[in-house]
Amino acid sequence: MTDGLRMTVLGSGYLGITHAASMASLGFEVLGLDTDAGRVDQLNAGRLPIHEPGLEELLCAGLEAGRLRFTTSYPEAAAFGDVHFICTGTPQQPGSDRADLSQVHGCVAALAPLLDRPCLVVGKSTVPVGTARRLAAELSQACPGAELAWNPEFLREGSAVADTLAPDRIVAGVTSGRAEQILRQVYARPLAGGAVFIVTSLETAELAKAAANAFLATKISFINAMAEICETAGGDVRDLAQILGADPRIGPAFLRAGLGYGGGCLPKDIRAFVARAEELGAGASLAFLREVDAINLRRRARTADLVHELAGGNLAGVPVCVLGAAFKPGSDDVRDSPALDVAQILTGMGARATVYDPAALDNARRVRPGLSYAPTLAGAAQGAHVVLLLTEWPEFTALTPGRLGGIVARRNIIDARNALDPAPWQEAGWEYRALGVAADAAARARLDASP
Ligand code: UGA
Repeated sequence: MTDGLRMTVLGSGYLGITHAASMASLGFEVLGLDTDAGRVDQLNAGRLPIHEPGLEELLCAGLEAGRLRFTTSYPEAAAFGDVHFICTGTPQQPGSDRADLSQVHGCVAALAPLLDRPCLVVGKSTVPVGTARRLAAELSQACPGAELAWNPEFLREGSAVADTLAPDRIVAGVTSGRAEQILRQVYARPLAGGAVFIVTSLETAELAKAAANAFLATKISFINAMAEICETAGGDVRDLAQILGADPRIGPAFLRAGLGYGGGCLPKDIRAFVARAEELGAGASLAFLREVDAINLRRRARTADLVHELAGGNLAGVPVCVLGAAFKPGSDDVRDSPALDVAQILTGMGARATVYDPAALDNARRVRPGLSYAPTLAGAAQGAHVVLLLTEWPEFTALTPGRLGGIVARRNIIDARNALDPAPWQEAGWEYRALGVAADAAARARLDASP
């Protein structure tokens, strides 16, 4: 069955669309499935519902080559696929830290009874450890020839296509040599390109994703904790990160101090990981991740406090320009967006915050209709007393103090992503503040007063 494999991809979020289009570009015949008919029509028309560089081209190439199409029909998917990829979302449950697995369970429950020939169902969604074992039992009960494997995805938004076509590692959580062979066939091209293939159990494969995201979040919160110390003691976290990162045992990646992590993955994944460990009686092992989360959220409050300070201690009616709504540049994703949280906090403190983002305004308006938005950068900056750089889009990092200085009412800027060179701003008369860099006088006073 490994010759001319036909694949279905269940779910058409970030992961599903990227996986479907990538597999089609590797020469496989792919049928994507989503229960949302509008989304399916949109995808079949070659229109990408998300902002992801290079993905629309890949989608259109797959459609034009006749190797990719989308459906809402589970019977069609069951009849079509030799390999079925589960790519549905696992968001945080409202009111709980746990992952909401209803989409994963829903798609297996819909597919399993329709399967009537040997096939491999491959989970790619991020799930709590133990989920795959239960799904495997459900599947084999419904169709004895249907087998489950777990194959977590490590793609990043903004570089999803490259991460999918040329991953650094492929994790194959399997229970048979047959499943391993099918996954080797699926990923033959990336494997030939040098990707590491790691065969392991279902549980280790599930844990691999949770552990990887927990490590990345910990690294970011570590440097942000150092930023807090720098702010208190008078250090500069950018220099500190450079010094730490030069040690090859530490490495420079994910040591960019600032407003911290957001998005649809790291925040909810580490919370779900802690919740699962607690369910398993191993809560103490991951208790530190609660602190990682707390450090991350404190950066948002600190940024708002800095604005308050720069505005002279009263934010009532103060016009503030908020640059950024997406959780990171290159994306229109505003899930758990640190930038929108800061805008919300400032609005709550009485400021007149106006948000601009080059890609995420529509999504931001939808999830935070109470905030004010401007369709252009100049519109958001007009008359501002404080400018906040919260998402490091190239359009913002290329800003010059002279150009912006002609639009704002007061020259105050907070670089919450440590993305600007302070010198030209300070030379042009701006009060430049960044997270992790103390205002010298205050820090010196604290050091002098300390025992
Ligand atoms: C993350 C992981 O990096 C992927 O490996 C994983 O597959 C994905 O989650 C997922 O679980 O699906 P992503 O959420 O796209 O990918 O974004 P990242 O590039 O990891 O950035 C996450 C956040 O951390 C962003 O808000 C970014 O601004 C922030 N960040 C990143 C920092 O604050 N400092 C850094 O040094 C790096």
